[in-house]
Parts: sequence; structure tokens; C-alpha cells
Amino acid sequence: MSDAYQDDRGNNDRSITRPGAGAGYHPKGGDAKPGGPGPFLIGDAMTGGYGKGPDILHECTIAVEKGEIAVIVGPNGAGKSTAMKAVFGMLDVRSGAVRLDGEDITALSPQDRVAKGMGFVPQVANIFTSMTVEENLEMGAFLRRDDFRPTMEQVYDLFPILREKRRQAAGELSGGQRQQVAVGRALMTQPKVLMLDEPTAGVSPIVMDELFDRIIEIARTGLPVLMVEQNARQALEIADKAYVLVQGRNAHTGTGKDLLADPEVRRSFLGG
Ligand SMILES: Nc1ncnc2c1ncn2[C@@H]1O[C@H](COP(=O)(O)OP(=O)(O)OP(=O)(O)O)[C@@H](O)[C@H]1O
Ligand SMILES: [Mg+2]
Repeated sequence: MSDAYQDDRGNNDRSITRPGAGAGYHPKGGDAKPGGPGPFLIGDAMTGGYGKGPDILHECTIAVEKGEIAVIVGPNGAGKSTAMKAVFGMLDVRSGAVRLDGEDITALSPQDRVAKGMGFVPQVANIFTSMTVEENLEMGAFLRRDDFRPTMEQVYDLFPILREKRRQAAGELSGGQRQQVAVGRALMTQPKVLMLDEPTAGVSPIVMDELFDRIIEIARTGLPVLMVEQNARQALEIADKAYVLVQGRNAHTGTGKDLLADPEVRRSFLGG
């Protein structure tokens, strides 16, 4: 991971999602009321659980601003994935709300949220293993009616190994390469915001650094990234905003820098 990225993030020098986006990321012309108050995407004070089961989330809030990386860390079972699924509409929140660009989308299905511009890479089962790499990317574009080839080229430029392996079954790829397929598939929808649940799970430290670099590169195009990470220290280093969740609640919130410096966070979550 390169420190150089820390200072100039927000330079819109290259666009993953739109060719020639130039001075800023241009979200696709949706019907969201733009520029509402608050963060670009927020799960606000979400309380809820699975089906008729007990509440897992307790007034849990996670959010990401335009052009930023927000990171969610916390112990196993803290509800990080549940919070992401709640934001994506995969479970009903009993109270609280989800807003995208100022619009309340709490009642929308996951499919409708994709149509609104949410790209989500879940923690598990995030690729079709028996399909080729390219077929996986095509699946990501299933909602699109326009020519998605340019986006596929952008994904291949971002992850060159995927271009090499495009005719290979995704199940034959390494862990890090599979995660690239999963992220690439989400990018194929031309999302306005990218949600990643443990994109570096099960990969070596070197591959983790590479994936982080690519994620930073994606964020630099102006695409906000909301991600869960188990590598807390590295994640906080690249986070504009960070959330520590414990037992379904917000335990600590701040900039990545703040939380890295917080003695309580260090002691409890970073090993001192
Ligand atoms: N599909 C489900 N049905 C019922 N309970 C679930 C389901 N998925 C998760 N849970 C429960 O919700 C709680 C939070 O789990 P969750 O997967 O959100 O944690 P996490 O912070 O993502 O953990 P990890 O770091 O291991 O990924 C746990 O008690 C878990 O058992
Ligand atoms: Mg999880």
C-alpha cells in the first residue's frame, strides 16, 4: 500500500465507472433527488435482525461520503455483515432508515437498490465459480441496456490478470483473483457507491496490499467505497471515516487516523 495515495485521493485522474469523467465523477442519471442533506449513503440508526429472530443491530449507523473510503471493523459476530446487508436491503430494519443521495430507499428491494446505483460485494458466495471470468462480469451488467464493453475494458485495465484469465472458470482462480472478479462484477453495474464485505478475506498480505491499492484507485475516481475489513490496522490507515462495531452497536466512530490514535481502540482492536 502506498502512502502517496493518502494525500491526493480525490484526484479524478481516471474513471473506472465512466470513460472520460474528467473533473469529477458523474453518477448515472438516476431519479434520486441529488444533493440531499447528510452523507451520500447512510444506514441511519438501523435496528433489526434476521426474520423473526432477535435484533442483531441496535441503532447502528454506517455511512460514506462522496469520494471517500469508509471502513467498518470489529470483532467476529459484531454484525458488520448484517449492517452491510441491511444497507443493501437484504433484511428488514425495524427502525432506522437507509438513504442514498438524500433519498429514503429503506423500502426498496436489493434489485431496486442496484438499479439506484448500489454495488455490493458480499462476504461469501460473491462469484459464480462454474462460469468464466468474463461471464461473471457479464452477469454484473445484466441490468444494463447500453454497451457495457467499455466498462469491461476498464475492469480489465484495473485488474489485468482478469483479462488474461477471462476464458477460465472463476472457480479455478486464486483467492485474490476471485475477489477481483467479485469487485469487477460489482463495477459492471456502473455503481454510484461500492460496498465491499471483507474484500481481502483469505488472501496473503502481499495480495491484500495489492487489493487495497486497487480499492484506493477506485475511490480516487470519485466512487465512494463502504467496506468491512478484518485487517483493522491496514483498513484504518486508508479510511477517511471508520466505524468500530461491537455487538451490533457503534462503539467508536471517527476518521481512520483518529481511531488509530485512540488508546481504547488500540487496546481492544489493534493489539495495543
Ligand atoms: N442469516 C442469518 N440468520 C440468522 N442469524 C445470523 C445470520 N447471519 C448472521 N447471523 C447472526 O448475526 C450476528 C452477526 O453476524 P455477522 O455475520 O453480521 O457478523 P460479522 O461482524 O460480519 O462477523 P465476521 O467478522 O465473522 O464476518 C451473529 O450472531 C450471527 O450468528
Ligand atoms: Mg462478516
